[in-house]
Amino acid sequence: MKIFIDTANIDEIRKASGWGILDGVTTNPTLVAKTGRSFDDVTREIVKIVDGPISLEVVSQGTNEIIGEARGLSKIHKNVVVKIPITKEGLSAVRILAAEGIKTNVTLVFSPVQALLAAKAGATYVSPFVGRLDDIGQDGMGMVQEIVSIFKNYSLTTEIIVASIRHPIHVLRAALMGASVVTCPFGVLESLFKHALTEIGIRRFLDDWAKVPKL
Ligand code: E4P
Repeated sequence: MKIFIDTANIDEIRKASGWGILDGVTTNPTLVAKTGRSFDDVTREIVKIVDGPISLEVVSQGTNEIIGEARGLSKIHKNVVVKIPITKEGLSAVRILAAEGIKTNVTLVFSPVQALLAAKAGATYVSPFVGRLDDIGQDGMGMVQEIVSIFKNYSLTTEIIVASIRHPIHVLRAALMGASVVTCPFGVLESLFKHALTEIGIRRFLDDWAKVPKL
């Protein structure tokens, strides 16, 4: 399973890329706004830090406008994946962009049939948002399980990015289901490393090592 970081914060991306486990980055307009920096500045830095898929989201709504914006984004760097919300106009654009070899990530997916439509349109990735579904009392990971089954039934090659992740259990369940990718906020990524017994174990080894006579 690939692990992406879901942020536009350069410090977070730099730190996580040093941990040896990072495969890519996803951003969205909210995450870019949080940095207080321009989109161009932020994206130019991200593509230099991580050599893997970098999702950058369009803000256009009409098919032609989405296509134009997507072509521009794809020119920033070979690793750019254009993130496009699931709408009729968006999927029309995905079909055309796929034919041009431009990779897409269909976002704001909240149902298995939306994911099926995205795959049929030729999306490279589809991003089901699990945390936001959980937030309204629905089963986010249940949706992912259904998408996994549907894609398997029809041998669809679109990769599933489990998005809107809130905690390590989302990551565990995604891995058990065989999702291709999880995209995690920095805090969740950091928490994946932690276990109380690991910390206690390191402390004990260091304490015991201090008792070993040194030559
Ligand atoms: C997906 O790529 C989105 O950027 C993201 O996961 C949204 O998560 P949120 O629900 O925490 O905003």
